[in-house]
Amino acid sequence: MKILSGNEVSKVRRQKISEEVQQLKSKKGVHPGLAVVLVGEDPASQVYVRNKGKACEQVGIQSYEYKMSADTSANDLKLLIEKLNNDDRVHGILVQLPLPKHLNSDEVLSWINPRKDPDALTVENMGLCWKGIARVTPCTPSGVMKILEHYKISVEGKYAVVIGRSNIVGKPMAHLLQEANATVTICHSRTNNLQEYTQRADIVVVAAGKPLMLGREDFKSGAVVVDVGIHRIEVNGQSKLCGDVRFDELDGWVNAATPVPGGVGPMTITMLLENTLKLASL
Ligand code: GUN
Repeated sequence: MKILSGNEVSKVRRQKISEEVQQLKSKKGVHPGLAVVLVGEDPASQVYVRNKGKACEQVGIQSYEYKMSADTSANDLKLLIEKLNNDDRVHGILVQLPLPKHLNSDEVLSWINPRKDPDALTVENMGLCWKGIARVTPCTPSGVMKILEHYKISVEGKYAVVIGRSNIVGKPMAHLLQEANATVTICHSRTNNLQEYTQRADIVVVAAGKPLMLGREDFKSGAVVVDVGIHRIEVNGQSKLCGDVRFDELDGWVNAATPVPGGVGPMTITMLLENTLKLASL
């Protein structure tokens, strides 16, 4: 079984991003900047935000962190986003999701200038993506496509199953696979007989959000398995990270699979850097 290493692909791409950031600075005098807004103290979100800041630093993108208390009002958050919309140093604004319950994420995302939306989560960017004329494409699904490209896994004519239908992963993932000429089915928590779909698929992208939900018996021999899940679980009193897939069962059965950690996760951040650079150069 081939291990599809997002760490490996990220290394190659981040090197290229760093070179392009330097070029943009020296030729156009533009220093790409990403503002990351975190509302509240969710521990997983704190780790993600820290990692995003570090990754920016690594490639020479300026990062600006805004930490707001969990009880921040919608109005105060709106004022911050408007300030960032008007700040010429900032080319990307990322509001870390999920937001505390009293804030409506669709409403909050609508305040971001779509030209400064590296997540591609505003209605305008989702629409452009859906039309096939994207300004930027959502980070996690684009990261998955880059992994497949890097390992020369052809998608054309293949049967791909995506598990999950979120705006941030499932829906755009299915769209990008279809644009690459796969035949795609979206499955989700209410799908009857899920295994009937996954067992026929050449490529399965799992974004179900359920730790260790799928294993060897769910895939056809020779399939390609991409695991978008990331969960912290306790095993024999020890804390460890796992995905939606029981990775240990796959060797000797499927053709290729992404590990957790080190698979899709690092690619999400890499694509965020790539999208921020793109927005800065537009
Ligand atoms: N929360 C988990 N993943 C993401 C992401 O890619 N973007 C944002 N804004 N929030 C997230």
